[in-house]
Formats: sequence, C-alpha cells, structure tokens
Amino acid sequence: MDKNSGAWSGRFSEPVDELVKRYTASIPFDYRLAEFDIKGSLAHARMLAHVGVLSAEDLAAIERGMAGILDEIRAGRFEWSLDLEDVHLNIERALTNKIGDAGKRLHTGRSRNDQVATDVRLYLRDAIDRIQAGIRACQMSLLDLAEAHAATVMPGFTHLQVAQPVTFGHHMLAYFEMLARDHARLADCRKRVNRLPLGAAALAGTSYPIDREFVARELGFDGVCGNSLDAVSDRDFAIEFAAAASLVMVHLSRLSEELILWMSPRFGFIDLADRFCTGSSIMPQKKNPDVPELVRGKTGRVFGHLMGLLTLMKGQPLAYNKDNQEDKEPLFDTVDTLADTLTIYADMLKGVKVKPEAMRRAATEGFSTATDLADYLVKKGLPFRDAHEAVARAVRAAETRGCDLAELSLAELQAFSPLVDEDVFAVLTLEGSLAARNHIGGTAPEQVRAAVARARAAIA
Ligand code: ARG
Repeated sequence: MDKNSGAWSGRFSEPVDELVKRYTASIPFDYRLAEFDIKGSLAHARMLAHVGVLSAEDLAAIERGMAGILDEIRAGRFEWSLDLEDVHLNIERALTNKIGDAGKRLHTGRSRNDQVATDVRLYLRDAIDRIQAGIRACQMSLLDLAEAHAATVMPGFTHLQVAQPVTFGHHMLAYFEMLARDHARLADCRKRVNRLPLGAAALAGTSYPIDREFVARELGFDGVCGNSLDAVSDRDFAIEFAAAASLVMVHLSRLSEELILWMSPRFGFIDLADRFCTGSSIMPQKKNPDVPELVRGKTGRVFGHLMGLLTLMKGQPLAYNKDNQEDKEPLFDTVDTLADTLTIYADMLKGVKVKPEAMRRAATEGFSTATDLADYLVKKGLPFRDAHEAVARAVRAAETRGCDLAELSLAELQAFSPLVDEDVFAVLTLEGSLAARNHIGGTAPEQVRAAVARARAAIA
C-alpha cells in the first residue's frame, strides 16, 4: 500500500501505477499555493473551533503545527512528496506527523474541491494586486515621457504612412489610456475572484454547522459563493483574468512593435538603454531590441493560456472534475509572464532616449501638414472637397520638386488656389498644426500637459 493510504486509498486493492501517480499529481506545480493553503486551513480551523466542532486545544495545536510548516516551507526545508499527490495532502500529512490526531481533524467539513478553489482565488487575488501595481508603474513611466515630450513633434501615422503631426507625449498618452482600461478591468475581475468557495465541501455542502461568513471575513473575501456546485467547479474568474491579462499583453505588444520600428535606423526615432538590448555574435554593428521583441512573442503564449482555460472548461459537467487541476499551470504562467513583463517594461520606458531631430525630419518629409492647408482653404470659404483636391495637386508638385509644402513659394501655392495668402506659412509649420488641435484629447502641447496632470491625479 502506498503512502497515500491515509488520504484515500483505503478502498483500493493495489498501489497506483508509477506513471499514473506522476500523471495525476499536481505537487510539481501546486506547491506554489502552499502559503495560501495554510492561510485557508487556519481560517477553516478557527471557524470549526468557533462553532464548537473543534476543541480549543486542537485549534491551538493546528496553529502551532502550521506555523512550523510555514517556516519550513519558507526556508526551503519542507520535503514535498509525489506520493502525496498535491499541496493540500502534503501539508495535511506534515501537520498530522507533527501534532497527531488534531491534524486529522482539520479536514472536517471540507473537501479538497472547495479547498483548492479557495487557494487559487487567494493566490490570484494577491497576483492581481501585484499586477495592478505593475500597470501603475508603467503608467508612471509613460507619464514621465509624455511630460518631457509634450511638445516634441513626430509624425502620426495611419496605414504606417505619415498622416499628421502629433507630439511624442501625445503618443505615449495613448498607451496610458490602454493601461488605465486594463487596470479597471482587473479591478472588476478581482471582485469576482474575491468570493469564498469554502463550505461547498465536495459539491453539496456539509452537514456540520459551519459559518461561512466567518471564514470569508477571516480571509478578506467580500462574500461567499452562493451555490456549492458552482463554488467548486467555477473557474470563470481564472478565464476572466487570462482575458484581461491578454489585453494588457496586446497593448504592450503594440508598444513593443513601435519601439522596435522606431529603434530601427530606418526610423531612428529612439534608442533603448543598452541593458534592454543584445548584440549579435556575428554582426558587430548590431544592437537588437530583444526585450520588446520578447514581449511581442510572449503575448502569444498568454493568448494560448486563455484559449487553454476556455477549452478546459467547455465540456465539464458539474461539479468538480480532475480536469480542473489543469487550470494551474496556465494561470501561474500567465501571472508570471505578465508580472515580469510589466516590471521590465516600467524600467525600459525610463531608458527610452528620444531623438527629436529625427522625429521632426520625418514629420517634415511626409507632407504631414497637408490637412492643415486644406482646413486653411475651407476657413477661407472653399468647400472641403475642393480644398482637398487643390492640396493634393500642391503635394504632387512638391513631391516632384522634392520639397515640403512649406518650401513652395507663395506664388507657387497660389497657383493651386487664389485663396492662399502670406498667412499660409504659419499654418504649414509643424508647431502651427499641433497648436491648432487644442481641445480635450487633442495633440496640442498645452492639451498634452493638461492630460498628464489629469492622469497623475487619477492614478495618485
Ligand atoms: N490537486 C487537485 C486540483 O488541483 C485538488 C483537488 C482534488 N480533488 C479531488 N477530489 N481529486 O484540482
């Protein structure tokens, strides 16, 4: 008989096959839930003592035993055993070895099904708090860049073709907005994570006079799961988290793509600090943006976890099934990947070196003030479609001559519309174009500074 006998093998007549043991065990990865498992067990034991199911002496022994186990785990001295299948059975067995019968009473009125659901929720709540802090750190880095470059002109793109001038600060604030939504999405997800499954026991509830609200308070949950079958089988919260995490990665991946492009000598808009880049073993001139490339790559991995979790759940009948054990690796990896990505990103953004001359040159070369010229003609009375046509011809002429619109003479510009006057040159400058977009959400430096101030207040 194998060492599982204490937990469940009483009804079995032969030991579990070695490969099956390895196949079904979760201890290689769920040991990470240990601290949350102990927290949950202590809350459960206190509740049992509170309602008179457990004696005060047994509770004291459990608290003492768990404190010792926690120390051993933290010190790396705890010996995890594959024979004991998972983190729950490992800790329970260690407790019983330490304190005897009181340890065997801990599992009264509880099942590993509601226990694991509780542990995962405690783990994820903690992870969400860390990830939200990581998002805030990135937002702060973006705001610092936005403030420093509120008036740094760069070409704004559509279809990756130069469109209209924007400021680099404005561009950074676009990512601030994305991360603000991500933060709010995680806060919303956290509400549904923060419900207590414990008390559902295996699936139907328990015959002991338990006090679930007591346990919820003890563990800082906002309330209890309302249905025992749902409590043990629900993993929506993990899927929601993976979806929110996927969107954070989408945003960081898009920014990464831009950093990679901007760092390419073809753009030359920015440089990244050396500590975020690597060289080539064969081409001595190379400085590669490895970190943003990996962020872009790891985004696929997080999407995969979301798909994995959705697929894991879609065919499961109520209530708990062993399938659910497969929730942990994708969830842990999503958390680890996202948390590391955010930490690195916040720091990497601080090391972005902006090259304003290159940005300005690109904005000048792309006829980015053509819309401003059209708007100028409209303000002088020309219908917009006609103005569009006149400016298109002016752009073609400038292109043939290899110059910018502002470099055409007044007489040349007047050939496309008699409405053009001396004052046109103010409109054709990059600064004039920026300053004209002076409304909330616009790219005028004044607006960018105001948006930074609002943003700082919002996340303070
Ligand atoms: N290791 C299991 C998991 O991660 C714990 C719950 C097992 N419950 C059971 N009845 N086999 O989901």
